Amino acid sequence: MTKRVLLIVGGGIAAYKTLELIRNLRKRGFALRCILTRAGKEFVTPLALASLSGDKVYEDLFSLTDEAEMGHIELSREADLLVVAPATADLLAKMANGSANDLASTALLATDKPILAAPAMNIRMWLHAATQRNLARLKDDGVTFVGPGDGEMACGEYGPGRMAEPVEIADAIERMLGGTTAQKPLAGRRVVVTSGPTVEPIDPVRFLSNRSSGKQGHAVAAAAASAGAEVVLVSGPVSIPDPAGVRTVHVESAVEMLAAVEAALPSDIAIFCAAVADWRVEPAGHKIKKGKSGAPTLALIENPDILATICRHKQRPRLVIGFAAETEKMLAHARAKLERKGCDMIVANDVGGPAGVMGGERNTVHLVTRDGVEDWPTLDKTEVAHRLVERMAALVGTSS
Ligand code: CTP
Repeated sequence: MTKRVLLIVGGGIAAYKTLELIRNLRKRGFALRCILTRAGKEFVTPLALASLSGDKVYEDLFSLTDEAEMGHIELSREADLLVVAPATADLLAKMANGSANDLASTALLATDKPILAAPAMNIRMWLHAATQRNLARLKDDGVTFVGPGDGEMACGEYGPGRMAEPVEIADAIERMLGGTTAQKPLAGRRVVVTSGPTVEPIDPVRFLSNRSSGKQGHAVAAAAASAGAEVVLVSGPVSIPDPAGVRTVHVESAVEMLAAVEAALPSDIAIFCAAVADWRVEPAGHKIKKGKSGAPTLALIENPDILATICRHKQRPRLVIGFAAETEKMLAHARAKLERKGCDMIVANDVGGPAGVMGGERNTVHLVTRDGVEDWPTLDKTEVAHRLVERMAALVGTSS
């Protein structure tokens, strides 16, 4: 049966993202109905919401026509889930205090259905004791939250307060409603993902590594899982949590990463997002001491190329995708890597610029295949991940 979401759009700059959220939810087979607050109307139009949701948009508590068609009590009663996005400081305060002075707050008070809120506000408003108090109270009341994330905000500041991306909100909705009737695009498929850096020990206290945060690889693993795939994520040491719904294998070195990837075969798809250290050394069994003979020389040994090894493997997955982190001549190097390693696609990104791709939230990538190059705009890493998963699904599809 189709699950129904009542989406309450609050007044914040992030309201524009709800248009993408609606598109995403409808693609997943959910039915949508929207309430737009007075402040929300300053950021998105009722017409835009109505066109995408395919339904009338409700705005007024005391509108005779609205009440005649669908009363405010009825609005929240016929939904399976209420979603507040963006959940502004004001909406959270109203919810925490049981205030009911407009249609949005009345619908939220008149419901016994689960509520998901996606907060979005200026960092200081988010960190303010009043907001944190409201948040704690709402959590106590059983409200579920998605985000906010860290990032650059419309006000130019950086920190927590940025609304979760539409795909993350849609994933949270799907988790709360227990899936949809729509067929998932990677259902029955196995996907192996590598992520993060590798760490190559020099001695018991020192190592060689790089700046990879694992954000892109982890986002790909999470997106593949939400597309219905059975995912094994082989990750080097990172400071971000294991994604939900994914089997994560933690490794340190390139040699361990290769072994874990081989152990995860057979697989339909493999995508190599890890920044594998190119070299290792024979690690000393004790801490290397400073001596009279001066600085020690590190004899570098080349690490196995995991991507190239899997491309030549007797259990080579049907679709193998590599990444190419470049600081110059990006496309030429990416094309050369495609041939040299024998994969089907290279996702090339420039990691040399001031944008801070390594560790950052956003990525500008180019898909390089034997047929040509496709340039993508700068996107959040979660959005890059979802688009890559859409591409995987188009190339491999479900197993049924
Ligand atoms: N890769 C891998 N094993 C390695 C090195 C790289 O699996 N030992 C994978 C990466 O995960 C990525 C792709 O190969 O998908 C390209 O990685 P990149 O670091 O850009 O290229 P390198 O192979 O290191 O080549 P170069 O040093 O010439 O940039």
